[in-house]
Amino acid sequence: MHAVTDRCTKVARNFNMERLRNNYLFPEISARELEHIKKYPNAEVIRLGIGDTTEPIPDIITSAMSDCARSLSTPDGYRGYGAEQGDKELIYSIFSVQALRKAIAQTFYGDLAVRDTEVFVSDGSQCDISRLQLLLGSNVTIALQDPSFPAYIDSSVIIGQAGDFQYKTGKYRNIEYMKCGPKNNFFPDLSNTSRTDIIFFCSPNNPTGHAASREQLEQLVEFARENGSIIVYDSAYAAYITDKSPQSIYEIPGAREVAIEVSSFSKSAGFTGVRLGWTVVPKELLFSSGFPVVNDFNRIICTCFNGASIIAQAGGLACLSPEGYKAMLSVVDYYKENAQILLDTFASLGLKAYGGVNAPYVWVHFPGSRSWDVFSEILEKTHIITVPGSGFGPGGEEFIRVTTFGRRETILEASARLKSLFP
Ligand SMILES: Cc1ncc(COP(=O)(O)O)c(C=O)c1O
Repeated sequence: MHAVTDRCTKVARNFNMERLRNNYLFPEISARELEHIKKYPNAEVIRLGIGDTTEPIPDIITSAMSDCARSLSTPDGYRGYGAEQGDKELIYSIFSVQALRKAIAQTFYGDLAVRDTEVFVSDGSQCDISRLQLLLGSNVTIALQDPSFPAYIDSSVIIGQAGDFQYKTGKYRNIEYMKCGPKNNFFPDLSNTSRTDIIFFCSPNNPTGHAASREQLEQLVEFARENGSIIVYDSAYAAYITDKSPQSIYEIPGAREVAIEVSSFSKSAGFTGVRLGWTVVPKELLFSSGFPVVNDFNRIICTCFNGASIIAQAGGLACLSPEGYKAMLSVVDYYKENAQILLDTFASLGLKAYGGVNAPYVWVHFPGSRSWDVFSEILEKTHIITVPGSGFGPGGEEFIRVTTFGRRETILEASARLKSLFP
């Protein structure tokens, strides 16, 4: 409770902010970590919680960014505002390089008919998720995977799409939770899913690590087409896909009329701090009035965003050069090797672990246990931070998420400590 004092303003708190459940997951984990460090000041805590990258960005990519930054100190190289949607032509120093929108369209959607004018370069996909919510407004209905990345539900609550939080069920009213677990191969039972206007769908999924198969995505697109819904497809982890699972929703015929795709350089290029992502809005995607969604999204971008940093865009372009791309994927491979070490660790302990093959997350099942209890036990006994699955929705109960981002020696040390905890 907060006290009303004579220092308070007369401005009422946003009702939707009041509706938000107390804490965003990661601040709560940080608070618990702080308590743990107070209790064990000499413990070497290993953080396999928040999904943040750890490996240095390859030199070929940072060199492009530093060249771009240095050119800003020259009369010819100085640049001010760029295009809100991402540069048409990025010119710095003596280089004239192809536009990032075009490079994204060609590299990630080469055969899929995505045009550069449908690609909107941004400062990251989390920011784009909020801008999409602004575009959609408070009157749309929402479905999401349960468990899922918390930004979808929290931004829905903030914009006013959700009803009250129900402590008994762990769910907000007016939101369709699509349970995804081992029993349904991490894909919702669509025959039991109510129609909503918007379906947030993340593949490879954070936190379960599951990449939807082509057949699953065909079902999803068909479901959206039958219901006249829009899919917001989050492919932030597409670079981790090793098997034949689609890397983009546009690999599915008919998706252009029902899907927006958000994606990011954060987890593929280690740009979590640099900040660079993109959103694709196909021209064929229309509101019920026939008005093109892309026109409104363009308006939102021009009003609420002033374009991604040109230094970050120079880095993005370097990532998409042939050598840059190779260098970027070698870092992804490093995290995948970490994933294999952790998958082997959990298998050797007789625990069922999912994910890790197509995503930098391992999703470990502790049948019958509460996920915050498992989190606490692992922290207490091994000084390892994980993420309790219930933080991603009620469907995450009984699971913990373990990130595979980390230095190799840290992952090996974590593996050794876990083996001693569950001998
Ligand atoms: C599924 C998913 N989407 C989006 C993001 C945010 O990415 P960005 O750094 O591009 O904002 C994350 C970050 O963890 C994520 O897990």
